[in-house]
Amino acid sequence: MSVPMRALLGILATLLLALPAPASADQALAPEQLFAAVCSSCHALGRQWDHRIGPPLGGLGNRPAAAVPGYPYSEALSSAKIRWTQAELMAWILDTNGRLNDTSMVYQNSLTPEETQRLARWLLEQD
Ligand code: HEC
Repeated sequence: MSVPMRALLGILATLLLALPAPASADQALAPEQLFAAVCSSCHALGRQWDHRIGPPLGGLGNRPAAAVPGYPYSEALSSAKIRWTQAELMAWILDTNGRLNDTSMVYQNSLTPEETQRLARWLLEQD
């Protein structure tokens, strides 16, 4: 017994509708959501260290690295001559150990380059 073509097409259409839609710009996570998802387990915003694993990241834009008073930075970051620009922050997030082998920030980036770029741009504007 052959299945009518109309029924086959119906099944096909149902299967296609069940596929997840490709992410559009509307559905992209906002930078603060990206920060919450991948950075905030170790970092707060603001400028006062609250004894999290990482230093607070408020006021980062154009600041020299390792400048939060009282935070125990690694020797590597303390002596690195980094200033937090968009390019430096991108390099840091995309490949932390590649940028600075002996840093104490243990991080493997899981964001796309586009998400990383939006996160970095947003972060540099936070207080
Ligand atoms: C597992 C904990 C952890 C996660 C997750 C993490 N970091 Fe860090 N981060 C650290 C630690 C620890 C340091 C201090 C590094 C050092 O002293 O070498 C640091 C340092 C930094 C610095 C340098 C700050 C300064 O004062 O110079 C920046 C910038 C930074 N992290 C950004 C981020 C961003 C953006 C994310 C998310 C994409 C992130 N980190 C995720 C732990 C983390």
